[in-house]
Amino acid sequence: MAEALQNYDAIVLGAGGAGLMCAAVAGQRGRRVLVVDHSDEPGRKILISGGGRCNFTNIHAAPDRYISANPHFMKSALGRYTPDDFIALVDAYGIAWHEKTLGQLFCDGSARQIVALLMDECAKGGVAFAFGDAIAAVDHADGRFRVTHGGRVSEAPALVVATGGPSIPKIGATGFAYDLARRFGLKIVEPRPALVPLTLGGDEVLFRSLSGVATEVVAQAGKGRFREAALFTHKGLSGPAILQASSYWRHGEPVGIDFLPDAPTGWALAAKRERPRATLRSLLSAMLPDRLAETLAERVNLPGDLANLPDKGLADVERRLGDWRFHPSGTEGFAKAEVTIGGISTDGLSSRTMEARAVPGLYAIGEAVDVTGWLGGYNFQWAWASGWAAGQAL
Ligand code: FDA
Repeated sequence: MAEALQNYDAIVLGAGGAGLMCAAVAGQRGRRVLVVDHSDEPGRKILISGGGRCNFTNIHAAPDRYISANPHFMKSALGRYTPDDFIALVDAYGIAWHEKTLGQLFCDGSARQIVALLMDECAKGGVAFAFGDAIAAVDHADGRFRVTHGGRVSEAPALVVATGGPSIPKIGATGFAYDLARRFGLKIVEPRPALVPLTLGGDEVLFRSLSGVATEVVAQAGKGRFREAALFTHKGLSGPAILQASSYWRHGEPVGIDFLPDAPTGWALAAKRERPRATLRSLLSAMLPDRLAETLAERVNLPGDLANLPDKGLADVERRLGDWRFHPSGTEGFAKAEVTIGGISTDGLSSRTMEARAVPGLYAIGEAVDVTGWLGGYNFQWAWASGWAAGQAL
């Protein structure tokens, strides 16, 4: 039998980074907040993030490092809750951290410290929790939201959708946010896996034999261009450069790889002059991992001493290695994607408060919304910033 109706000022659906930040901020502003999550514990994605050390922000967080149908939407929230604000919170809890690379900040210890920080901030705001509760129904009448969860019914004038996107379903990720948003008439920008390895098929399966080989490249897909490591896998391509490019990649389009980003223009012809007895294979082996050099040399198929190779052939090789075109057959999907691109359209949301314009009291924050960051702490910064913005408005 259902227990008595519980009243709150706000109900937050989802105890991830965005939901916990929102609940803590609203709670500390005196709001009575309930957080409901079907998982038994909060922040499961935080716990597995950054290899267990949580890359909790990026000091270079700026709107141009986010992808959204509306490139301006994230400006307000990111501008009002910055990486420095989160760093101040981390410092206040005495959590040691370090910058790894490219502005990415990680805990020295464990991602558990970040979840503990957020839970502590929620405790300061008197936030109530319902973990392990499936959400059976969400009803809306007379300006109030009624949520049936785990055999209980809770009601509030404000409902925050913070259930994230469907990437990594095995830890409880779902497309619940989209179904709920659609029911309230909000549009959805087609969700697709992002920060995800790409698969190679057809003729390019040959590259799978390089599984485990990594090298620094510039990877380009659409408008995304990233200089970082690429890694060959038994399914295709991965590594940070590829994950980053995957967010800009569309089915049917190529991914361009510059295998020699540091080689000066004209390197092949210069080598012909300076080392005429060398082969292309030996030349590439000096610049790239050996197995990769061998495969690329086989593919370009210019055997023999450099001295005997035509200048035009060498110029072509240089061009090809500077923009090697892979034609991925697909991605490894939501099962392997770090984030979901697309989601609840920003068209219907206030960028200041994250409230749905057509449904007063309904808010959407975090990854559920069509705002996706680059790899490297940007997505948590969006979770904190959008959660903070809604928390201030509740
Ligand atoms: P999040 O997905 O964290 O939380 C949603 C919550 O809603 C979950 O607790 C879930 O259980 C709950 N929920 C879902 N469906 C529900 C339903 N139907 N009913 C009830 N509850 C439901 N980012 C970054 O900046 N730095 C990093 O180091 C990493 N590393 C990383 C590693 C891996 C392996 C992944 C998969 C992702 C990352 N990310 C990352 C991305 C980052 O984890 C992600 O963008 C944020 O966690 C999103 O926070 P949200 O709070 O929006 O959703």
